[in-house]
Amino acid sequence: MASKLISVLFVFIFCNANASIQAPKLKLNDGGEIPAIALGTWLGNNTQPSAQGTEVEVAVRWALEAGYRHIDTAWVYKTERQVGQGVKVSGVPREEVFITTKLWNDQHARDAVVPALRESLKNLQMDYVDLFLIHWPCGQFANQSYDLTDSLETWRGMMEAKRLGLAKSIGLSNFNQQQIQRVVDAGLDKPAALQIEVNLNLQQPELLAYCRAQDIAVMGYTPFGSLFYNKASKAAPAPRSDDPALVAIADKYNKTVPQINLRYLVELGVIPLPKSLTKKRIEQNLDIFDFQLTAEERKTLQSFDKGYRTIPQHKWLDHPYYPFEKN
Ligand SMILES: NC(=O)c1ccc[n+]([C@@H]2O[C@H](COP(=O)([O-])OP(=O)(O)OC[C@H]3O[C@@H](n4cnc5c(N)ncnc54)[C@H](OP(=O)(O)O)[C@@H]3O)[C@@H](O)[C@H]2O)c1
Ligand SMILES: *[C@@H]1O[C@H](CO)[C@@H](O)[C@H](O)[C@H]1NC(C)=O
Ligand SMILES: *[C@@H]1O[C@H](CO)[C@@H](O)[C@H](O)[C@H]1NC(C)=O
Ligand SMILES: *[C@@H]1O[C@H](CO)[C@@H](O)[C@H](O)[C@H]1NC(C)=O
Repeated sequence: MASKLISVLFVFIFCNANASIQAPKLKLNDGGEIPAIALGTWLGNNTQPSAQGTEVEVAVRWALEAGYRHIDTAWVYKTERQVGQGVKVSGVPREEVFITTKLWNDQHARDAVVPALRESLKNLQMDYVDLFLIHWPCGQFANQSYDLTDSLETWRGMMEAKRLGLAKSIGLSNFNQQQIQRVVDAGLDKPAALQIEVNLNLQQPELLAYCRAQDIAVMGYTPFGSLFYNKASKAAPAPRSDDPALVAIADKYNKTVPQINLRYLVELGVIPLPKSLTKKRIEQNLDIFDFQLTAEERKTLQSFDKGYRTIPQHKWLDHPYYPFEKN
């Protein structure tokens, strides 16, 4: 009895000594809550995980051990299976983790939405996701011809997925303000979240203000933009990770430049989705909730906004529902 008590006490103290970082949560307009940062799991343009790969599974486990409680995936990333596996092996109860996944462009028909989510759930080995997003407004059939299904029809399919309990919340990704407003005006369920590119080069102040006014949570993808030399195209504006102004701010708080970058997005009210397969970086990217930038520092960071899009998806420029500026 006593030894059992001692071992329980030991586990308690041990666990506390290794207390993981808990990110705050934001309220959603449908009553739910969403953790303020997520691990991204897109492996990049032409990179697909191998069928038997475990790199994402391991990254998800590291993230959950570090204290992340939100993982961002999508059917098209081909990482759902590994995300589900990572949650399982982490030992963190399913209900403590927030899982976001997305509907691909070839499933925009109203009746295609629920079956598409069921396939994602099978990949994830889960019976619900916390958030399901329409990945892009641009429908495209498997044969590459454009699907011009009205997004309101797709949205009705999303609402059905929610009604069935397969998705706790539903939202949009890569929709512009006008496209979101159309959904809002239709008098249907309001989108709970919008996932868009947000980073130092593309801060999207108008769209952020619109979402704040509409009480739609904003998730920021490609949060590092062109910060890293190995990822930045030559045309991409400053800053890079050795930018003196950013290094000075990082030194002041004993943080890294990527951490300053992520902290700034959090202070803009954005939920950043940093992707990493590297344990140290995964841990570092979560460790941004114990300091606050000054107004002057935020102004410095704001000055890097050049309206430069890392992922313009020019291949869909001629799609009638292309969401971005066409220049
Ligand atoms: N809705 C959409 O259409 C959409 C589009 C794009 C992305 N997303 C989501 O957003 C997530 C993030 O976007 P992203 O993957 O494009 O790019 P990102 O997260 O901005 O950048 C990822 C890159 O940064 C590196 N990195 C991460 N943390 C670092 C650190 N602390 N120091 C140095 N390097 C670091 C990673 O390297 P290592 O992995 O080698 O560590 C990787 O090369 C995606 O994974 C996906 O979940 C959504
Ligand atoms: C993805 O690939 C396209 C086409 O090769 C390229 O133009 C674009 O810069 C790439 N995007 C990223 C984020 O690497
Ligand atoms: C492409 O697929 C769609 C949906 O199956 C079909 O309606 C359309 O006719 C196809 N287009 C071509 C050019 O094959
Ligand atoms: C600075 O940060 C590192 C890494 O988080 C930590 O190990 C170190 O103790 C910190 N130094 C100070 C002076 O806080």
